[in-house]
Amino acid sequence: MNNTNTPSSLIMIFGATGDLAKRKLYPSLYHLFRKGKISKKFAVVGVARRDWTNEQFKDHVETSVHNALGKNEDIKEFVSHFHYQSHDVSDSDSYRALKDLADELDNSYGLNGNRIFYLAMAPEFFGTITDHLKQDGLTNTDGFQRLVIEKPFGHDLESAEELNMQIRESFSEDQIYRIDHYLGKEMVQNIEVIRFANALFEPLWNNRYISNIQITSSEELGVEERGRYYEKSGALRDMVQNHMMQMVALLAMEPPIKLTTDEIRSEKVRVFRSLHSYNEEEVKENFVRGQYGPGVTVDGKVKGYREEDNVDEQSNTETYVAGKLSIDNFRWAGVPFYIRTGKRMEAKSTKIVIQFKDIPMNLYYNKDNSMSPNLLVIHIQPEEGITLHLNAKKSGQNIETTPVKLNFANNSFDGMNTPEAYEKLLHDCMRGDATNFTHWDEVKLSWAFVDKISDYWENTREQHFPNYEAGTMGPKEADQLLAKDGFFWWPVENLDVDQC
Ligand code: BG6
Repeated sequence: MNNTNTPSSLIMIFGATGDLAKRKLYPSLYHLFRKGKISKKFAVVGVARRDWTNEQFKDHVETSVHNALGKNEDIKEFVSHFHYQSHDVSDSDSYRALKDLADELDNSYGLNGNRIFYLAMAPEFFGTITDHLKQDGLTNTDGFQRLVIEKPFGHDLESAEELNMQIRESFSEDQIYRIDHYLGKEMVQNIEVIRFANALFEPLWNNRYISNIQITSSEELGVEERGRYYEKSGALRDMVQNHMMQMVALLAMEPPIKLTTDEIRSEKVRVFRSLHSYNEEEVKENFVRGQYGPGVTVDGKVKGYREEDNVDEQSNTETYVAGKLSIDNFRWAGVPFYIRTGKRMEAKSTKIVIQFKDIPMNLYYNKDNSMSPNLLVIHIQPEEGITLHLNAKKSGQNIETTPVKLNFANNSFDGMNTPEAYEKLLHDCMRGDATNFTHWDEVKLSWAFVDKISDYWENTREQHFPNYEAGTMGPKEADQLLAKDGFFWWPVENLDVDQC
């Protein structure tokens, strides 16, 4: 195991007994530790309300790692870096005790005052915690101080602005790492490389050659035990404002002049600034909402959304969104970016399809006189890869075409599973690289766009909810959205990388 140049640091996790820490953070830290990607000089302080001892916490971390990864080599050494502090988020005494512990660990591990505060808990406490971190002296060290914040960052533009103002009292923008875990996914990070490192694609990446772009992120699971949160959020806030719009920005941005955090982020911000903002009429025309009813999935019969725990029987909350985004700039004018995402759909799959325009004069047809457009498919998950759909001659005497696929599956390239998004993001944060975190300007502009849609939806009841059966690809209106423009959703199952 080699130690790397990753600086030593104290990682303080608020919400240490919660689900995110258990499922993602501890296994990711363990991976980084095992791969030698974090310096041995690190300590983790778990902070939560529960009255646990250090030993209970260490056991919890050990079990979390074991359950998530099925392994535990060096686990005792790993958990020896973990400490626990029971805490009341609004009580200064609690923070002072935390400060004493942090200072002590700082000395004993030689952490140079470097601190990462990871807020893996309900957002209503974010502001209180950051206020106290500053007031009670936890940020007063010689090293770096970084704040990692989980979504949701606000509920709409107004609340996001309030939250931002509050945390900016204690942390500057360049100390804030807002997590969008999609930005840690290998193939999401690959979008930029596929686009800008290939002479083949970049000249075609515009409204002269691309007819439309489709981004699908479908889930098989329902809302599970998150009904209370989801009722107020819905798919628009839960998935579109962040993950879906980030993918749009990466697909649409101009090449950055340098690979620096600021340059890349500013190109993404320019995309958000070019987004056509919708009035009510346009929302009706360009966005579709859905809510799942009972149905049959791979797990057998499942309940409808309105029957889920902590969900109103008459809920007006959407569990599915499809929409058409227009980017009003020179490169993209006239090219629809279609997005769709939902819970309890047919498959768990995130894919991007770039559909190219037909060539001006084509004399070569498939057997049934149809033509197949060229597609570039970027497989984000579960499989990772790219597929290029081309036309070739069908063997035989006629000049008949047949679609062929050129495939690249990521795992067949490096022979191993790519690291989890959280692992990469945690490592980036420790190294001080904020490129794959969202800047306030991006958050602000994406809320401004989404607010127009949620304002309209919240003020008008959708009479036809539930409007799609669990286990399907969503309401038929989402198909009509594309049909109006002469397109259709490319079926995700036919695009699978493995089937080619
Ligand atoms: C989260 C949402 O941000 O993303 C969840 O809150 C959703 O509702 C999840 O299930 C999807 O992430 P992934 O990585 O499984 O596609």
